[in-house]
Amino acid sequence: MSQETVTMTDNRTGKTIVCPILTGTHGPPVVDCHGLYSELGMFTFDPAYVTTASCESTITFVDGENGILLYRGYPIDQLAEKSSYLEVCYLLLYGELPTTEQMDHFTANIHQHTLLNEGLQRFYNGFRHSAHPMSMLVGVVGALSSYYYDAMDIQNPEHRNRSALRLIAKLPTIAANSYNYLMGHPYVYPRNDLGYVENLMQMMFAVPTQPYEFNETAIKALEVVLILHADHEQNASTSTIRLAGSSQAHPFSCVAGGIATLWGPAHGGANEAVIRMLQQIEHPKNIPDYIARFKDKKSNLRLMGFGHRVYKNYDPRAKIIREICHQLLKELDAQQQPLFEIAMELERIALSDEYFIERKLYPNVDFYSGIILRTLGIPLNMFTVIFAVARTVGWVSQWMEMMNEPQLRIARPRQLYTGAAERDYVPMAER
Ligand code: CMC
Repeated sequence: MSQETVTMTDNRTGKTIVCPILTGTHGPPVVDCHGLYSELGMFTFDPAYVTTASCESTITFVDGENGILLYRGYPIDQLAEKSSYLEVCYLLLYGELPTTEQMDHFTANIHQHTLLNEGLQRFYNGFRHSAHPMSMLVGVVGALSSYYYDAMDIQNPEHRNRSALRLIAKLPTIAANSYNYLMGHPYVYPRNDLGYVENLMQMMFAVPTQPYEFNETAIKALEVVLILHADHEQNASTSTIRLAGSSQAHPFSCVAGGIATLWGPAHGGANEAVIRMLQQIEHPKNIPDYIARFKDKKSNLRLMGFGHRVYKNYDPRAKIIREICHQLLKELDAQQQPLFEIAMELERIALSDEYFIERKLYPNVDFYSGIILRTLGIPLNMFTVIFAVARTVGWVSQWMEMMNEPQLRIARPRQLYTGAAERDYVPMAER
């Protein structure tokens, strides 16, 4: 069968290039235009990679028009309802849901790596007491390379796997240490008799003076938050991981880069920004005034937690998390109710406003995740840290997939240069 193609012609010269059309399992077809430079001497221009498929991947599928998110083919709502975070980790990393035996083995492997080297624990003392926990996370994850030398050969699949497991296992410990340092609390060691989420909670909230009591509703809510944030195909932080990894950097360094990218308010920092915005709005009566400011480009304000580069209908994660938010507030913390009421009213008004409708701006996952994390007693500046814990598996899965490609090439985008034309150096006295 003949391959479908797109033909591009340079109208200046009449030269033509025939580009194959590639089709995936789902999603729009992709034009393979990598011969464009060699054939026509041109680059493509796609700032912010709005229409660029940067890689081939089998991990996660997002259909922004229809609000679909699949991990390895499984719909996110089924995984959120029926699976656990660690099972989702296995699925993302290895491509299939595990058998009981595989899951036991995987869990044991994760447990083996939950502790942090004591030398790394001391790193925290070097941070200023008021440091943002995301800055600690970037620093400590970056420093893992100076402690775990036994799996540094990225060409060795066994080393790659061990580094991936280490990252998934240690991120909760590193995150909880950042929190405890911030609060002036003693570090709490991981407990391998607990599930991944319970362990994260106890490392953050247990104190040596009294037993820590788990709340099932809270654990389930956090488990779902982690599942929903586990991967999201080629977003900014994941693309950072792939770009850094393409230079054959170790995954500890790549993930430190991913965490730094996630921190921005247009990406993972949005959950924190949403709560700050809701606090600023203060009362539902102030919403119309804020809506006007969100719409006014001169104000430079955006309705945080609204809009998405890919989802132009609704964010399927938001649908799931909205429901959990309702349940959690009903069962746990009435104190957060006023904030939630502002959020609901804001959502109602924005969804019926022409500006947001026209631009297909809908609530994204972060519009609600912040309210959940706050209800669980997690402080604002830890929100993006929790996102980073959840996304680590996505980052390492994408990195492993890239490393398994038969030929890894360093990523090297090109540019449209619009600076000064070539000119001669002018001595200072003559300028
Ligand atoms: N509030 C007000 N206007 C908005 C918003 C918003 N939240 N988002 C987009 N717009 C407007 C924007 O001004 C532009 O208007 P116009 O066409 O008149 O110039 C139009 O919508 C398209 O915006 P864009 O910036 O070109 O869209 P994008 O795809 O580049 O940006 C986004 C996507 C998520 C960065 C953006 O919608 C945004 O800044 N949202 C708020 C931050 C946020 O919630 N981020 C979390 C994203 S989900 C989690 C994650 O990915 O980590």
